[in-house]
Amino acid sequence: MNEKTESATTAKKPWVKPTLTTHKSGFMNKFGNVSSHNHIEELDGVAISSLIKKYGSPVFVISEKRLRHNYRRLHDAFADRYPNVQMAWSYKTNYLGAVCNTFHQQGSWAEVVSGFEYEKARSLGIPGHHILFNGPHKTRVDIERSINEGAHLHIDHLDELYLIEKVARENNCKVDVTIRLNFDTGFTEPWSRFGFNVESGQAMDAAGRIASSDYLCLTGLHSHIGTFVLEHRAYTKQAKIMCDFMNKVEKETNCQINSIDIGGGFASKNALQGIYLPPEQVVPSYEQYAEAVCDVILEATHHRQQQSRQRPLLILETGRALVDDAEVLLASVYANKRLPDGRRAVILDAGVNALFTAFWYNHQITPTRLLDGVVEETVIYGPLCMNIDVVRASIMLPPVEVDDVMVISPVGAYNNTQWLQFIEYRPPVVYIDVDGNISIVRRKESLTDITSLEDIPEHLKLDNP
Ligand SMILES: Cc1ncc(COP(=O)(O)O)c(C=O)c1O
Repeated sequence: MNEKTESATTAKKPWVKPTLTTHKSGFMNKFGNVSSHNHIEELDGVAISSLIKKYGSPVFVISEKRLRHNYRRLHDAFADRYPNVQMAWSYKTNYLGAVCNTFHQQGSWAEVVSGFEYEKARSLGIPGHHILFNGPHKTRVDIERSINEGAHLHIDHLDELYLIEKVARENNCKVDVTIRLNFDTGFTEPWSRFGFNVESGQAMDAAGRIASSDYLCLTGLHSHIGTFVLEHRAYTKQAKIMCDFMNKVEKETNCQINSIDIGGGFASKNALQGIYLPPEQVVPSYEQYAEAVCDVILEATHHRQQQSRQRPLLILETGRALVDDAEVLLASVYANKRLPDGRRAVILDAGVNALFTAFWYNHQITPTRLLDGVVEETVIYGPLCMNIDVVRASIMLPPVEVDDVMVISPVGAYNNTQWLQFIEYRPPVVYIDVDGNISIVRRKESLTDITSLEDIPEHLKLDNP
């Protein structure tokens, strides 16, 4: 470091008398713009006021246009760079039939992680050979059904391997299987509880065990390195580790790997709590993720061309990055209050019961009319009589009025699957199709929906008053 720069970095800053600067709505001050108070009145050309009038509040609203657009863009980003790509919709991310079928119509297979999700995919008409069965818990019945229907079984651990082999032996058939791998990319916390570890040799041992079986045949490799992965280089490393393993396992066990499934995990344009830059600045584009993966696999499978072998099918199980920004939750202001510490609080008619992801995202909350007045730090609560029901712990907002409708976004991933029937009924979900027609794709819950699962023993029944 030269003398000039050293003195510049160590020089003391001049003392400035502290001042209080009032934040005024819509004005700049020395800290920048106070906050922008955009408002929206329409979703895909449909007036929000008409949605609330017809379906009530709260209500989830899905955009078919956005679902299809996202799918095409992600698919093309990979298919432009690699010749053999297949998407498999991650059911747990959002298994509303309308969402699944939109993706299935676009060409997606189903990726399921339980007997229930498997049944759901089959009930939507997806054939077994277009279902990937992942996850650490598959019952014997699930395995028998998957084998009979030609689904792709992804093995998580040795006990599952033995069970699949046993069922295959009993059915006197040879089953193609995929193993799930886990490893350290150096960029994300390894999800070592799922699958077989590469570094320790566990994965190669499992492959060897499969190679020695008369009833199993290793044809695929799978891994899912984590979720909301903001570092696209993690996928380069993942692809490299999987390809190295593929080439090694083919050599050592004589198997032929036909598919490499890189799981999901691409970040959506949501604001993860604790990440201070806005999603537009930190979330990689579909193209960046595609570039991170495809070049590596092309290079690692180049030799297959000389052998006239097809390159492995590249499978993507992307969830949140496809669906999150295709859905919003409309919720209304139920009350305003003042907390003892002076902060303003707003109670909405939807909380963490409907919006499970409020636990880890700072969702955007956009008014549906132009708000004016002094912007203040505000806490947004939901309607539950539970302290944990916080939709936003801190947001700068001008005053809102009772019945003001707020648009909470993006909410398409992990809410319509992880929402709770807790204290309140779960709200309806409506779907705006590409022509602007609206349908209810899940109606609001009723007391009958909930009590139909219950039974009351005879002696506990109360006499009619
Ligand atoms: C095996 C597997 N595939 C795909 C996904 C979808 O992940 P994401 O929504 O982060 O893309 C998950 C989610 O945890 C998963 O566990």
